[in-house]
Amino acid sequence: MAEQRFDDTAPASLVIRQPDDWHVHLRDGAMMTQVLAHTARQFARAIVMPNLTPPVTTTQLANGYRERILAALPPGSTFEPLMAIYLTDHSQPDDIAEAFARGVAVACKLYPAHATTNSAAGVTDIRHCHAVLERMERIGMPLLVHGEVTRREVDIFDREAVFIDEVLAPALRDFPALKVVFEHITTADAANFVRDAPAHVAATITPHHLEINRTSLFEGGIRPHLYCLPVAKRESHRLALRRAATSGSAKFFLGTDSAPHAIGAKESACGCAGIFNAPVAMECYASVFEEEGALGRLEGFASEHGPAFYGLPLNPRRIRLERRAMEVPATIAAGDARIVPYHAGASLRWSFAGLADQA
Ligand code: DOR
Ligand code: ZN
Repeated sequence: MAEQRFDDTAPASLVIRQPDDWHVHLRDGAMMTQVLAHTARQFARAIVMPNLTPPVTTTQLANGYRERILAALPPGSTFEPLMAIYLTDHSQPDDIAEAFARGVAVACKLYPAHATTNSAAGVTDIRHCHAVLERMERIGMPLLVHGEVTRREVDIFDREAVFIDEVLAPALRDFPALKVVFEHITTADAANFVRDAPAHVAATITPHHLEINRTSLFEGGIRPHLYCLPVAKRESHRLALRRAATSGSAKFFLGTDSAPHAIGAKESACGCAGIFNAPVAMECYASVFEEEGALGRLEGFASEHGPAFYGLPLNPRRIRLERRAMEVPATIAAGDARIVPYHAGASLRWSFAGLADQA
């Protein structure tokens, strides 16, 4: 969706503290090596989603995955992967607490079973996790939530709003001090819920949910590369997300949900959900904030609110964004496959120009 409102007083170049990505899919093996470089180019740290096959369900698996990521980093990169443990009906409070205490994982991820890619081993009923949630609340370990119910009778466009009423609000009543990140929110309902909740309830917002609505998925024909979960909603929701992201509220921060799939897995009779936006992430956020007349709030959203929520230090380095065209390639190599990036073939208004001189 091209907005035509620009802030003419905006600078042509913007230097901000280096951002972090609080929600990304880096995959594993050959694909990871290439997609990781795109995230590590822009972001200092990222929370790496654990929905591998098999999923990252224990301290030991999280440690192993972290080591593989570090080994696959481009030479000289100081990128820091932060791990999340995938909750199942059988997760053990002691194992989760150990991962947190040892610094192996910063959070746990709740995937309702069958909500999305590789979530079959997820939680079938949050009541199965009560002992784990009770412990997480006590030790201050955040719960990252894929907020969709999965019952067939609930329309896919309503699944996030129903999740708030049926799962999230009751969980916060049962565990009032539990730190929660409502991930990749897509509705005004979720933005309002988080806005009105206590300070330890926050949300991440993706670039694509700020830019596309559900009509975009069908513009001129079906657009598999714009399909992700939670699926984009109607225009009024996109506008609510833009208001939340640019509001300056510390409850909202950056999480790309960059989720690469090989071209054949997307362009298929049953295409996978996921948008690979890592190569263009900061370019997109800069455009959105500029269009909203809020470039001065980009640094808070991208680089300050997340560390404050997680109790982590701010990044010492700075990056430069420039208002000059970036041409996005049609495809990007990943292992033996190719991936179509978000905004493939388009010319973007902002470019990521690397780390800024610290002087
Ligand atoms: O679109 C999505 N893709 N949503 C998710 O929740 C998972 C992700 C993936 O892993 O591909
Ligand atoms: Zn995700």
